[in-house]
Amino acid sequence: MKIAFGCDHGGFPAKEAVIEYLVGAGHEVLDAGTFSDESCDYPDYAIKVCNAVVDGSCDRGVLICGTGIGMSIAANKINGIRCAHVTDVFSADATRKHNDTNVIALGARITSVETIVKCVDIFLNTEFEGGRHENRVKKVMDLERK
Ligand code: RB5
Repeated sequence: MKIAFGCDHGGFPAKEAVIEYLVGAGHEVLDAGTFSDESCDYPDYAIKVCNAVVDGSCDRGVLICGTGIGMSIAANKINGIRCAHVTDVFSADATRKHNDTNVIALGARITSVETIVKCVDIFLNTEFEGGRHENRVKKVMDLERK
C-alpha cells in the first residue's frame, strides 16, 4: 500500500517514527512534509496528502499535528476525503469498519508515539465492513453535492 504522510511542527517527531515503522513494514510512503520542527501551517500539509489520496497516487493518508484536530478539519473540507480524528486504537479500528475512512488525523500532544504507530497499523490493516454502513457512508458523501 502507498501511504501519503503529512504533519506540522507539532507532529514532526512522531511522523519520522511512524514513517520508519511503515517503511519497515513494507509500505511505500509519500512524505509531504513538514521536514523540521519549525513552525508552519497544518492546512498546507493536509491538502498535499488529501490530494494524493483523491487523485489515486496514494491509497491512504496519515496526518499528524499537535492535536490532530486542525488536520482533520482541513482534510474533511476536501471532496472525496473521509478523515477521522483518532486518539486511540478502538477508534482507529472502528473508523475503518464503519466509516471507510481514507485519511486519519492524530495528535502528537495527545497520543503517544507508540499508540500512534498502533493506530496507523490498525488503520492500514482493517477492512470496511460494508452492509448497514454502506448507505450511511453514501449519505455522508452525498453531503458534498449539497
Ligand atoms: C500548532 O501549535 C497546533 O495548533 C497544531 O499542531 C494543531 O494542534 C492544530 O489543530
